[in-house]
Amino acid sequence: SSPRHLTSINDLSAAEFAKLVLNASAHKSAVKSGQTPKTLSNSLAGQTIAMMFNKRSTRTRVSTEAAVTIMGGHPMFLGKDDIQLGVNESLRDTSTIISSMTSCMVARVGPHSDITGLAQYSSVPVINALSADFHPLQTIADFQTIREAFPSRTPGTSSLGLEGLKVAWVGDSNNVLFDLAMGCIKMGVDIAVASPKGYGIPEEMRKLITGAADGVSAPGKLLETTIPEEAVKDADIIVTDTWVSMGSESETQERLKAFAGYQVTNELAKRGGAKRDWKFMHCLPRHPEEVDDDVFYGPRSLVFPEGENRLWAAVAALEAFVVNKGNIL
Ligand code: CP
Ligand code: NVA
Repeated sequence: SSPRHLTSINDLSAAEFAKLVLNASAHKSAVKSGQTPKTLSNSLAGQTIAMMFNKRSTRTRVSTEAAVTIMGGHPMFLGKDDIQLGVNESLRDTSTIISSMTSCMVARVGPHSDITGLAQYSSVPVINALSADFHPLQTIADFQTIREAFPSRTPGTSSLGLEGLKVAWVGDSNNVLFDLAMGCIKMGVDIAVASPKGYGIPEEMRKLITGAADGVSAPGKLLETTIPEEAVKDADIIVTDTWVSMGSESETQERLKAFAGYQVTNELAKRGGAKRDWKFMHCLPRHPEEVDDDVFYGPRSLVFPEGENRLWAAVAALEAFVVNKGNIL
């Protein structure tokens, strides 16, 4: 039977997503207090995890390698100049060969079709480490971070107990947003997105995102606007990302122009009427144009715990998809 892959948050039921986040938190507490269970520390013993990265990465690379180390396996980093893929060999042949010798392929690619293409020919799980469309490991870490910051809520069986929170995304409608929005909808968290005209959510993607509500008893709602103040109204969490994703560098000048006025600042939050105790998140890497230093380095910022949580998200994902073969226990 073919393995189960993690290509997007869309691959997970609400209950599975919530469980991954809770598992990530549980592993964080256990490992940080020196109580790593043997069942975790030996879980990838003797196994190699291939990391095929066509783009730069700080967090995703370091968190995946560190997670595999915690789990007793071997992370094998394969950068774009290391393997034949894309230059001298097809995706199909590469996937067939690498999956015949390893236990998982964690892949960072350009077009999302590279993820689905790898998955199609792989005999082992493929975990998306960022594609043009999705970044599921980031979303797991983001919800872990949100739960840590809003801890008084009790998780349910298919949710994290975050219902009623509001996330505001101000900036580019990109890969990080698309999975985050699906996570919000599944967890009953409302999400308002403010992007300039021409940089909103593409129609096909909007269908996928709103489809995340299927089967969820109290799904979060998606609101879209071009006005940052409108998005941040009553927001508990304001989130942004770079205005120029990897691969779009040639559009830098026009993007900087288009996004003028979208910088996250305390003044924007105040003008728009964000909640009094609003928090700030960003997947990183960060540039000052999308969020100023006062917010980014200020007391509302969750960005460094959010970055650290990438490690625990990676542990939880490898456990679920590699160790437990796609059963999210
Ligand atoms: N947030 C994130 O994925 O960062 P890297 O690009 O450094 O991996
Ligand atoms: N949207 C960014 C995220 C990087 C982690 C990019 O795709 O470059």
